[in-house]
Amino acid sequence: RNIAVVLAGGVGKRLGITTPKQFFKVAGKMVIEHTVDVFERNNHIHEIAIVSNAMLIADIENIVLKNEWTKVKRILKGGSERYESSLSAIKAYENEDVNLIFHDAVRPLVSHRILNDVVEALKNYSAIDVAMPSADTIIEVEGEFISNIPDRSRLRRGQTPQAFDLNVIKEAYEKALLDPNFKTTDDCGVVKKYLPQTPIYVVEGEESNMKLTYKEDTYMLDKLFQLRNTEAERIDLAQVSLAGKVAIVFGGSYG
Ligand code: CTP
Repeated sequence: RNIAVVLAGGVGKRLGITTPKQFFKVAGKMVIEHTVDVFERNNHIHEIAIVSNAMLIADIENIVLKNEWTKVKRILKGGSERYESSLSAIKAYENEDVNLIFHDAVRPLVSHRILNDVVEALKNYSAIDVAMPSADTIIEVEGEFISNIPDRSRLRRGQTPQAFDLNVIKEAYEKALLDPNFKTTDDCGVVKKYLPQTPIYVVEGEESNMKLTYKEDTYMLDKLFQLRNTEAERIDLAQVSLAGKVAIVFGGSYG
């Protein structure tokens, strides 16, 4: 069973608006509503859990009721760090035979293509990441100076979902939590460091699967939703006219 874990436990300090960014409205709905909608509609997702900041659980409950999502079965209390929110889901499902597909609530344009590829990869691998090549050169710094410029062709920018066989991510965190120097914002990073023998398969991401982080991203997201909706309308229209043609052909041969 594939469980989508929508991580919405953050407060969005960097965006600089008063409400947490998962509640920001774009293209007629809140960001988190767009995100959960994608998982609700994807046939490979069996259940959805939303991890929320403790103060906002009632708000999330209202959103779930309003949208009449049928797959949202649990609303879990997150922690102050992102990994604590992931851990809350790992604990909630710890005795079940499931895959956990973690996704940032603030990446509302995740596509069905990405989800399908992630689910497909879970048949062969127990840890999956989604990542994109980088257009910019990435440099490593020490203080204010460059210490290294890694070969760009081998670098990727990590997105989400990140998906795991529950047993693997659980074991990785069990080891991590014994490490006094443990620090992370990335679940694949935990597997890489604490279960280094586990291959982590990388699914190709998409530019539109961006994370709402800064003010500028709100304009970009708005435009990307417009583009997506125009594209969807164009496909709808094409199907209508195709259906018309098919009807005429059949009309001719049977009429
Ligand atoms: N997240 C979470 N629990 C936390 C922190 C983050 O579930 N303790 C979630 C966020 O809600 C978001 C995703 O993880 O959907 C990605 O995190 P990020 O962009 O860093 O979100 P925030 O922590 O909200 O943003 P900021 O760092 O600007 O405060």
